[in-house]
Amino acid sequence: MQGKATLTLKQMMHKRNCLQIGLCLIFLSLSPFVQLGFAETANESVRESRQLDHEAVRRGYRVLTEKAVLSSDFTQEVFDNLWQCWPEKLRAKAESASLEERRSMAFARYGLTPRPEDPEKPLQYVVDKAGNWTMNCFSCHGGTIYGKPYAGAPNNRFALQTLTEEIRRTKFKLGKSLSRMDLGSLVIPLGTTNGTTNAVVFGMGLMSHRDENLNIIPSAPRKFVHHDMDAPAWWNFHKKPYLYIDGFAQKGHRGLMQFMMIPENGRDFFINHEEDFRDVYAYISSLSAPEYPEVIDENLAEQGRAVFEQNCAECHGTYGDNEHYPNLRVPLEDIGTDPVRLTALEVDGRKKYARSWFAHANEKDEQVTHVDPDGYVAPALDGIWASAPYLHNGSIPTLWHLLNPSERPTIWRPLDQQFDAEKVGLNIQVEDKAPITELDAVLRRSYFDTTRFGKGNGGHDYPDVLSPTQKRAVLEYLKTL
Ligand code: HEC
Ligand code: HEC
Repeated sequence: MQGKATLTLKQMMHKRNCLQIGLCLIFLSLSPFVQLGFAETANESVRESRQLDHEAVRRGYRVLTEKAVLSSDFTQEVFDNLWQCWPEKLRAKAESASLEERRSMAFARYGLTPRPEDPEKPLQYVVDKAGNWTMNCFSCHGGTIYGKPYAGAPNNRFALQTLTEEIRRTKFKLGKSLSRMDLGSLVIPLGTTNGTTNAVVFGMGLMSHRDENLNIIPSAPRKFVHHDMDAPAWWNFHKKPYLYIDGFAQKGHRGLMQFMMIPENGRDFFINHEEDFRDVYAYISSLSAPEYPEVIDENLAEQGRAVFEQNCAECHGTYGDNEHYPNLRVPLEDIGTDPVRLTALEVDGRKKYARSWFAHANEKDEQVTHVDPDGYVAPALDGIWASAPYLHNGSIPTLWHLLNPSERPTIWRPLDQQFDAEKVGLNIQVEDKAPITELDAVLRRSYFDTTRFGKGNGGHDYPDVLSPTQKRAVLEYLKTL
């Protein structure tokens, strides 16, 4: 069962003891930005010994990468012509580039990557023999770890809104018909900052057209609270009894199928694909966090462990030999992070989920659903160095900023895919202001503006009780998870 948060008093004390900390870390490293070189095969290594059905795991990965479960988004021809609607400078560069270079440019622009084991194909789309591209789960759940493609890492560069707008323009140009995504995006915003998406609202929107048994029903247009989220890393799935940042839904293979509720997929489609998604469940359960590939100061990390166990483990659990994940939900008034995600999902919607096929309603294995959660669940922190940016909305670029609440940047943008080894996270530029939306919407999406709705970077000020030395040690310890 879900742990109950009982820490309010203690956190009030944390706040009272709050230390104001200025710039506190001085490093002598010549270049804190390093290109990581962990093995290409890191994705296949399982650090703990877990009971795995390797056949099912393999099948699950194949379902994700090779089986189109949605209607196709665009064709190879459309993809190959995207460059023609790029801004002038980039277009000129693309014009004189080879097909292969152009493809790399397109991948970089939209946050796509080659598959780690089959670089000819994209990780984020199923591409069939006829050249039809269909989005898959990896579009949000498969990205890079500081430049290296990694299945199961959050795709912190995915530019879904920009890709969809430019696909639409290219289709107009080529006289092709528009897809579900092209049209849907005219009604529902897909994501206002690259690397984050309005995915939770997609789910709510799709469910509003179904009854609890997944039959399609007529429904009046509804208003949703649009907000963007940073997808969680899949490698902690095996630890979690409940899913999502508010931990509202018990884990199960059917819950993984919500993304497929497009009108083309009737109730039978779900029944017929259950076995596939048992395999997807096995695949996601098999994933483990990548190991930190650089040198770790073991002494410092050991000091950090002690600080962590005293100040953080109560919520985030313990790691190493005596692993324990408490699955603790912390009330919103306590955690104080952006509230929009919690309130955007209404109790009625959650109740409907609880009564639905996804939660095995009225079956003997009916699942538990928390219909009115009061806050966010503290995530497991395995591989946390590899899943920047931080918090559920992706508002904090590095672990150093997470540990130094008063230093968090209001507006920032990632500069490149390099790893900031000093602050542990994205290599960013802090900005005074973001471009004005109407003038350059595409450019604006590369800025994270924490003053915008649902994008607040406040809260989680628990690290304020730590001294600069303790924070430095915790930062080192976090690399070992
Ligand atoms: C458009 C982006 C997007 C796509 C595509 C997508 N997801 Fe997600 N997924 C998210 C986001 C964002 C969350 C976080 C939602 C939350 O916590 O409220 C999430 C959460 C999850 C979680 C819960 C993880 C956890 O630790 O709580 C699982 C499991 C998951 N998705 C599986 C899938 C599967 C399987 C597919 C494909 C069938 C898929 N997702 C497609 C964005 C996406
Ligand atoms: C009272 C419980 C609690 C304590 C104490 C706590 N945390 Fe958290 N932590 C949370 C919750 C809840 C979240 C998720 C908040 C969100 O995303 O809005 C979180 C998020 C995080 C994240 C971001 C995770 C991600 O995937 O983006 C990191 C890193 C983290 N905490 C580290 C720490 C460290 C280090 C400490 C100790 C100095 C600590 N936390 C203390 C509850 C806690």
